[in-house]
This record gives sequence, C-alpha cells and structure tokens, in this order.
Amino acid sequence: MTMAQERIALVTGAASGIGLATAELLLKRGMVLVLTDRSEEVSTIASQLVSRIGGRASAIRAELSKEEGVLQLAVDVIKQHGRVDVLVNNAGIHPKKNGDKFYLEDISAQHWASVMAVNLTAPFLLSRELIPQMKARRWGRVVNVSSCAARTAFRKTSAAYVASKHGLIGLTHTCAAECASDGVTVNAVAPGPIQTGLTQAYTTEQRQASAQSIPMGRYGEPMEVAAMIDFLVSDAASFVTGAVFDVNGGSVIV
Ligand SMILES: NC(=O)c1ccc[n+]([C@@H]2O[C@H](COP(=O)([O-])OP(=O)(O)OC[C@H]3O[C@@H](n4cnc5c(N)ncnc54)[C@H](O)[C@@H]3O)[C@@H](O)[C@H]2O)c1
Repeated sequence: MTMAQERIALVTGAASGIGLATAELLLKRGMVLVLTDRSEEVSTIASQLVSRIGGRASAIRAELSKEEGVLQLAVDVIKQHGRVDVLVNNAGIHPKKNGDKFYLEDISAQHWASVMAVNLTAPFLLSRELIPQMKARRWGRVVNVSSCAARTAFRKTSAAYVASKHGLIGLTHTCAAECASDGVTVNAVAPGPIQTGLTQAYTTEQRQASAQSIPMGRYGEPMEVAAMIDFLVSDAASFVTGAVFDVNGGSVIV
C-alpha cells in the first residue's frame, strides 16, 4: 500500500478484548491505527502495539457514554489524521448484577439509557460524523460489533443489552443501504461468547455451562472475531455490505 492509499482506522473499545485484537490485525495489514477507549491505559497499549508489530498507531482517550465525548472524539481524530477510512464500532458494555444479568424488573430507565448510550448511540453518532467524509472520497468501511444475543434469545443476556445489539443491526442495515452506491460498506459481526473482560464478569459456573452449550465446546478468542473484521475492512470485501456475520462456534446456526 502506498502512502497515498494508506488507510486510517479508528477502533473503539481498543484497550482490550476484541477491539485490541482488531487493532493488532489492522496494524499488521498496514493501516494507520487510532485506538480509542475510556481506559487511561490506551496510550500505553498503542505504544506497546507499535513496539511489538511496527507501523503507526496512536490513541485518543474518549468517554463514549456521553454525546459530547463521542463528538469530541470525531473532532480529535479528524484534526489529527484528516480523515477516517475504517470505523470499527466495537466498544460495548453488558452490566452484571453479582455475576448474573439484570432481569427485566431490575432495569431502571437510567440503566437502560446507559447501555444504549455506549452500545448504540455512540456507533450512530460516529457513523453520522464520519461516514459523510468516506462517501465524499468514495471509499470507506464500517463494522459494527453486535452480538449473538441479537441473533436468537439467550437466557443470560439482559433486555437492555439485547435491544442495543438488535438496534446496532438495524443501524448497520440502514447505513449500508444509504451508502451502497458511494463505495462505503457497512457490516456487522455477531460474536458468540468470547474470552474477554466482558465475559469474565460471569461466574465460573456460568462460564463453564456456557462453554458446554457451544457446539465447539469452548469460548472463542478475540482474534477469531478480529479475523472476520479484518476481512470486512479489506479491499477484498468490496461487494459485501449490510450483512451480519456470526462468529460463535456454532452457538447460533441460522
Ligand atoms: N466477549 C463476548 O463474549 C462478546 C460477545 C458478543 C459481543 N461482544 C461485543 O464485543 C464488543 C467488545 O467487547 P469485549 O468482549 O472485547 O469486551 P471488553 O470489556 O474486553 O472490551 C470493551 C472495551 O470497551 C471499552 N469501553 C466500554 N465502555 C466504554 C465507554 N463508555 N467509552 C469508551 N470505551 C468504553 C472498555 O474500556 C474496554 O476496553 C462489545 O461491543 C461487546 O458487546 C462481546
């Protein structure tokens, strides 16, 4: 890839799990990486990636639960890099209550709003702010990280999380349809249980039971989701848009 074709990729929730694995793969692909996360570790993590892999990666610390935090991120990334070619909306939360999900009767309006803010509103705002400049250059890739919880009913996922991840698929479909003739693709991945901080919040018993219920008999690794995202943001995926890709060890076979 020449300097003129160098692609700028913004990955949210990049300080750990699926986001970090994605940042690593895209850096290996030769993209210029912008890792963003609310974690104060994110700058160190970006530097460590560069020392290990080479290439160019930097970090912007951002709090995506607030509109002003998301909009500031969009301003900062454009100020620092001039554009974003690849947007991976990966940051997400699934709050637990003593290692278990929040059941319907325990979900306050505030809890609901906080899950929606990170999982659905932040991807919407970043899409709104960054897709128009992709369309103007007639090349762009957006991947939204949904969940297998939006593909079928799982008893261990809470209504707020499930609704937010269904919403993300709706956002994916609409953005894809709006951008299809402008060289910008928008897709979603729907991971099954993956070994990350998010699933560590479950109790050991719950994780064992969950692993047994997966046809492959194990949790996935963050890299196994990142590999799908890596394909979707590549030139090779130029005819793929508006699609949802299951990465779940056979948990949901549709
Ligand atoms: N791990 C799984 O089993 C699984 C399954 C399906 C979907 N997912 C989805 O994958 C995505 C990545 O999750 P993960 O499993 O890697 O979890 P993770 O907790 O390891 O990583 C999530 C990252 O997002 C960041 N983040 C959370 N809230 C934020 C906020 N308000 N502002 C900025 N950054 C914030 C966290 O600091 C963290 O670094 C999420 O959207 C999650 O819903 C995960």
